[in-house]
Amino acid sequence: MHTVPVSYRRCGGCSRSGLGVGKIRERRTLPVARQRIHLPPRAWRRAVKSALGGELWVGDSIAELENAFAQFIGTPDAVVVPSGRAGLRFIFEALDLEPGAEVICSAFAYPVVPHLARTLGYDVRFADIELDTLGMDPAALERVISDRTRVVIATHLYGVPCRIREIRDLVEAHGATLVEDCAHCYGASIAGQSAGSFGGFGYFSFETSKPINTMGGGIVTTADAAMAKRIREIAAKQESKDLAWLRKRLFKTSFEATVTHPLPFSLGVYPALRLLQGKDEGDDRFASGYQPDETTMQGRMGRFTNYQATLALDQMQHVLPQLERRIRNAERLMNGLEDVVRFQSNDDPEVRSDYMLVTALFPRMEEVSRRLLKLGVDSKHHYMRDCTAIGEHGGSFANAERAEREVLHLPAYPELSDASIDWIAERVRRVVEELGD
Ligand SMILES: Cc1ncc(COP(=O)(O)O)c(C=O)c1O
Repeated sequence: MHTVPVSYRRCGGCSRSGLGVGKIRERRTLPVARQRIHLPPRAWRRAVKSALGGELWVGDSIAELENAFAQFIGTPDAVVVPSGRAGLRFIFEALDLEPGAEVICSAFAYPVVPHLARTLGYDVRFADIELDTLGMDPAALERVISDRTRVVIATHLYGVPCRIREIRDLVEAHGATLVEDCAHCYGASIAGQSAGSFGGFGYFSFETSKPINTMGGGIVTTADAAMAKRIREIAAKQESKDLAWLRKRLFKTSFEATVTHPLPFSLGVYPALRLLQGKDEGDDRFASGYQPDETTMQGRMGRFTNYQATLALDQMQHVLPQLERRIRNAERLMNGLEDVVRFQSNDDPEVRSDYMLVTALFPRMEEVSRRLLKLGVDSKHHYMRDCTAIGEHGGSFANAERAEREVLHLPAYPELSDASIDWIAERVRRVVEELGD
């Protein structure tokens, strides 16, 4: 096993939550995982407390979260939903779109999104992305949008806002509804206005890898009170969850938190990844982050619980210091490599990105990923896909194709110290220079 010196920050008193900046600096000899997943703070204890208090499933925290979230994003309303994808589904239902209605999606996106629209019987079309933000290109949207278009779904990928103001103007000019996919974008804004408040609707995901993690769940933001009421009614018809669900989510998230923790990662996961790589089976479930079975709604429905709302409220209070550190790490890595690597970015000075994942394009992405792993840096790819095969319309989607081939996510999460970030940058530089791309 190839091990390397990396200094991690340990977050005194809140290391499991990953919130805030650590107080103790340690030097260890560990490889770096692509991502850190955390169990929400005191998740087990809170579960027991909520169960004993009879507040696991229903209680005041849901309304409190909806109000706090709406206030943070700057929309009059927010409605909790079972998952990000369920949020999108409820938005479609609330809009009461006719079968065959035209829905335009970003060509490079989370496949669930166009897949869901297709499954519901809509006519799915795509607009290509731009290579800087990796979001929908307004010029490409302009070529495909028409007065037939009913909905446009614009995704802010990996925490970098797309050119949402231009997109909104086009959508409004055609009388369609803009839906913002904000699954990655808690804390991102343009000119002080939060992602999730530009369109008719925004939807956020609270899955385990997202900025707010309630072990599943999500929230829809909207300025339309009648729509919010309808979505709330639809969400209320969902089946209640049960203790089996709770146990499963707690164990699954505890497992994810364990395997992405530096020590178990370096002792168990990293050697396994190296072994798989040796057998040329590197692009497995763990390596790719997206599998066809993830395009279903399975496990992503059921009523959002009061317990999850308490977890989200708690994280909302602490997320800003963590976000500052996340942004600082992302910028340190990107600045350290700007002469050799093309990073995803939105260079509009009014844009604030939350950098859920630091993202770069490499002409030989898979080779870069392989070489980095050998040097102790785990990375993530194929999280988003070129989705254009899901629709039936022709067109050129050269940027989406290229993004699928070239996009790689580098670790820069808040727990990594400056020294670790510099060390990762040095590894990346070495690989790029070796490959000469
Ligand atoms: C861009 C994007 N949109 C939507 C979703 C769906 O969110 P959920 O998994 O909460 O349904 C995801 C999930 O990873 C995503 O990455």
